[in-house]
Amino acid sequence: SKSIAIAIDGPAAAGKSTVAKLVANKLSFIYIDTGAMYRALTKKALDEKINLDDEQSLVELLKQTEINLKQNEKGQMVCINGNDATLQIRMQDVTNNVSYVAKHPLIREEMVNRQQKLAEKRSVVMDGRDIGTHVLPHAEVKIFLVASAEERAKRRHKENLQKGFPSNIEKLKAEIERRDSIDTKREIAPLVKADDAVEINTTTLTIDDVANRILKIAEQKL
Ligand code: C5P
Repeated sequence: SKSIAIAIDGPAAAGKSTVAKLVANKLSFIYIDTGAMYRALTKKALDEKINLDDEQSLVELLKQTEINLKQNEKGQMVCINGNDATLQIRMQDVTNNVSYVAKHPLIREEMVNRQQKLAEKRSVVMDGRDIGTHVLPHAEVKIFLVASAEERAKRRHKENLQKGFPSNIEKLKAEIERRDSIDTKREIAPLVKADDAVEINTTTLTIDDVANRILKIAEQKL
């Protein structure tokens, strides 16, 4: 049978990855978290104290950086050159710097190449910022998830507390808004809804509600 692509884009902390994983599981598709790839490079760059404005150095670093996304029972695992970095790529310093790395055109070019290869000849659910517009412009299903910044900060705050991390909801909201602003204003492949994407506002919806809506839209294409 023909392979199918479901593209899920939207601002930070809109619930993309949770919903994308659910949808991928339900359909037995591969889930690909493109944000994890930008986070992995950012983690490596911070470790090696590379200036994040220096595109050429980042390009060199990316050439030497193998990023592996694996799914296991516990969810997704992210490896950088064979080393588990699943938790490290979610740390504050990575989150607050990743948008500076992701705005470089040559970095995006290489990431998009890698992402398109991952989606070749198999059915995928891919989430990110530019999937429906640039990575998989011919995706059968395109979803744009949005939610108010208050609600997104609240959800992240709850997650942090559950993990036992220190958390400040006002600070989270400011960080989310700053990241969205950089992602939306960058010159190359900014965060924007594709013309043919279905927008879902998740502010008052549960995760299952959102997943079911996407599955319903997908069913019509299968
Ligand atoms: O999805 P996540 O919040 O983990 O993404 C982290 C960052 O990576 C985003 O804020 C954005 O700067 C960048 N990103 C991107 N394009 C994608 C996915 C993520 O620019 N397709």
